[in-house]
Amino acid sequence: MAEPPFGLLAELTHRCPLRCGYCSNPLELVRREAELSTAEWRDVFDQARALGVLQFHLSGGEPLARKDLSELAAHASGLGAYVNLVTSGLGLTEERLAWVDHVQLSVQDADPANADRIAGVRGFAAKVRAAKVVKDAGLPLTVNVVLHRQNLDRVAELVRLAEEMGADRLELANTQYYGWALRNQAALLPTRDQLRRADEVVREAKSRSDLEIVYVIADYHEAHPKPCMHGWGARQLTVAPDGGVLPCPAASVIEGLAVENVRSRSLREIWHDSVSFNAFRGFDWMGEPCRSCPRREVDFGGCRCQAFQLTGNAANTDPVCSLSPHRGLVDLALRQPAGSSVPREVAR
Ligand code: SF4
Ligand code: FES
Repeated sequence: MAEPPFGLLAELTHRCPLRCGYCSNPLELVRREAELSTAEWRDVFDQARALGVLQFHLSGGEPLARKDLSELAAHASGLGAYVNLVTSGLGLTEERLAWVDHVQLSVQDADPANADRIAGVRGFAAKVRAAKVVKDAGLPLTVNVVLHRQNLDRVAELVRLAEEMGADRLELANTQYYGWALRNQAALLPTRDQLRRADEVVREAKSRSDLEIVYVIADYHEAHPKPCMHGWGARQLTVAPDGGVLPCPAASVIEGLAVENVRSRSLREIWHDSVSFNAFRGFDWMGEPCRSCPRREVDFGGCRCQAFQLTGNAANTDPVCSLSPHRGLVDLALRQPAGSSVPREVAR
């Protein structure tokens, strides 16, 4: 039997005031009318806690778009869970932070004009204010930045901005190509030179700054894939705004994966017994080269969603891997146009 999940990513809504071209939400967003009700979310939280979940990540879209956010946070907190709010910060007030233990605030760039361009909305100043609200409330703050070609040259400025915001932690995550980000890949893929310079800046900042800095690598430029989700159905589950239960936030891209819903089956049954959660658990599903590879204990064969998106078969080795027969697909994407021929991303 699978170990209990550690975390629940509760995507309360896909609604969001921002329109970032790297959004990992699916291309087809869940409409407001199809979202779980307050009572349904409370029930999901009860079930998740009973299943063993300790950390609730209230996310979206923008979770502040839900009027019942505080009620849901209070419910999660009352169950003894650690409540993490993942937000753009637009519309954040101290009242809405009641029952929240930690805030992850997204920042698009350190340059206000480019940040607003990437977000598709004038939000930079509101984010600076939101950081102050979080710190004034005495809560720990993580600043999250998705890195890509359009902001990767300003990592030093991003570190400075996070320090000025009073963040405790800075997560610099190179774009992962799912959903809208895959659609906008040509506009977002960085150059090797950009990545090399960013690596140096991050190394220097880590040695100097009081911030805890987490740097998520650009996997396309690596020889081995990331240990996506630390293995399928191993540590975390995602509940989408309409109640779909997913082994990872992007799993709805895998055609033929029978996604189950909390409206028709219990979370416990879905976690332990569903076809979707058992599809790639452990190592038995693996073919070669992963099956006999010593790194399978380290990276679990990489990412199932990436394997599906690039090769059409989620059971294939992640094509980022240099041992994958499909690595050429990643190399082809990296042979990008230079300079002004790089397209602008399409807003979500
Ligand atoms: Fe990882 Fe599979 Fe590549 Fe080995 S062959 S490094 S297990 S992805
Ligand atoms: Fe789905 Fe990696 S994003 S398994």
